[in-house]
Amino acid sequence: MSSLFIDGQQCPASGGQSIVVHSPVTGEVIGEIARGQAQDIDLAVNAARRALNGRWGQQSATDRGRVLVRIGEAVLRHIDELADIEARDTGKPLTLARKDIEALARYFEFYGGACDKVHGEVIPYLPGYSVNVVREPCGVVGHIIPWNYPAQMLGRTLAPALAMGNTSVLKPAEEACLTSLRFAQIATEAGLPAGVLNIVTGFGREAGAALAAHPGINLMTFTGSPAVGVAIQTATAANHVKCVLELGGKSPQVVFADADLDKAVPVIVGAIIQNAGQTCSAGSRLLIQREVFDQVIERVAARFREIRVGLPSSAPDCGPIITQAQFLRVNQFIQECKDSGLPVLAEGILDDNLPAGGYYVRPTLFGPVPRTHKLAQEEVFGPVLAALPFDDEDDAVALANGTDYGLVCAVWTENGARQHRLAKRLEGGQVFINCYGAGGGVELPFGGVRKSGHGREKGLLALEEFSITKTIVFHHG
Ligand code: NAI
Ligand code: MG
Repeated sequence: MSSLFIDGQQCPASGGQSIVVHSPVTGEVIGEIARGQAQDIDLAVNAARRALNGRWGQQSATDRGRVLVRIGEAVLRHIDELADIEARDTGKPLTLARKDIEALARYFEFYGGACDKVHGEVIPYLPGYSVNVVREPCGVVGHIIPWNYPAQMLGRTLAPALAMGNTSVLKPAEEACLTSLRFAQIATEAGLPAGVLNIVTGFGREAGAALAAHPGINLMTFTGSPAVGVAIQTATAANHVKCVLELGGKSPQVVFADADLDKAVPVIVGAIIQNAGQTCSAGSRLLIQREVFDQVIERVAARFREIRVGLPSSAPDCGPIITQAQFLRVNQFIQECKDSGLPVLAEGILDDNLPAGGYYVRPTLFGPVPRTHKLAQEEVFGPVLAALPFDDEDDAVALANGTDYGLVCAVWTENGARQHRLAKRLEGGQVFINCYGAGGGVELPFGGVRKSGHGREKGLLALEEFSITKTIVFHHG
């Protein structure tokens, strides 16, 4: 059984209980993780507080940056091992797992280099006064991350927090936490002092809820479902703690009649099937100008029929879904769409001889989907694409903005003026013109509006989220 990681040490959960881990590839039991609870969260928060008041809290930004950069280098030295753990734990293709570990390293390199470039302001004020605004750590940060990109989420939330001099308690998802636990050892070997990063594995409703409600937390960050986002905000409200929340989306890919389809089609399909559709920023709605609807669908469908679902080691387009629960959820969604009479335009291929107990879902393209249909409004979190026609630019904007979510949008058009108009009118944290996702982009601020959450991660802006300012006023006459 794997352990918790508190104050630089591996330790068992105080209740001695565990959670069984299943392989997404075969459905078989492959291990156990420690089932941390409120007492363990308490120990972890106390350790993080001591570390904040210790060496970590006193050292210069330059020295902190050096530690982060060394962690990034250490991750790259262990890339084969970490990619293997990540692929085994999540079922994602090994090729994708490797990119995710590279991104984990990149977060530490980026924020390691950035942390000693953050400085304050001098504000001109009344005669006889000098005013400085300085930026300080929030204190102890609570992080709750999901299972779809465990390594990337770890880097995205942890690296900027540590860069600003905070200390952390992280609750990884019970479905996939092995990379986080191995990372903690590697980071410690690379020079991260004890107590700066503490990891408590366990169930969301136990360890996760205890972390969000802990009065010793000064900032809370969460990525996952909107319902749990509400629970976390409610818990932190009692302690007057700020939350950074990223809660998924129903992101539109808007294709105008003048789009360059040779470029667009592979990107459109990639944006929904990456990680078997289990991506917060998946491009799950394909909005197509009516006059080219059939033509675009024909090309997208042809590509969909080539999507191969297979073992993570076989470089497939999609691996299995993470757990049996998510597998059933996604399949039920697909079945409901079929039962409601939605036309199936194309389906992908399941490799022969896949293990019978694994969680393999057939990628499916539906359309035309009515605007009010569940599939046009709700996140599936699987390899399912909904195609909808629109008439003109105004209609495209209304349709694209017409869900509760607002995370990412993409526009395909060769008309430059329209590109600019759409970029202004689409609601979301990122808009891509003639591309999608830009390869993850550690440098690019990311986050949502409405039900997709609030706050910004990634890029230099994350350093503002993970710190607070103090205004210091001197009266010297
Ligand atoms: P979830 O929101 O329940 O889980 C995400 C994380 O929150 C996990 O670490 C979990 O242990 C923790 N958690 C769960 N309940 C909690 C609570 N009461 N208090 C504190 N922490 C808690 O998401 P789940 O059940 O894994 O997936 C359900 C759906 O959520 C997916 O189908 C998808 O639509 C969405 N989702 C979105 C993600 C994103 O990247 N935005 C990631 C994962 C899920
Ligand atoms: Mg849940």
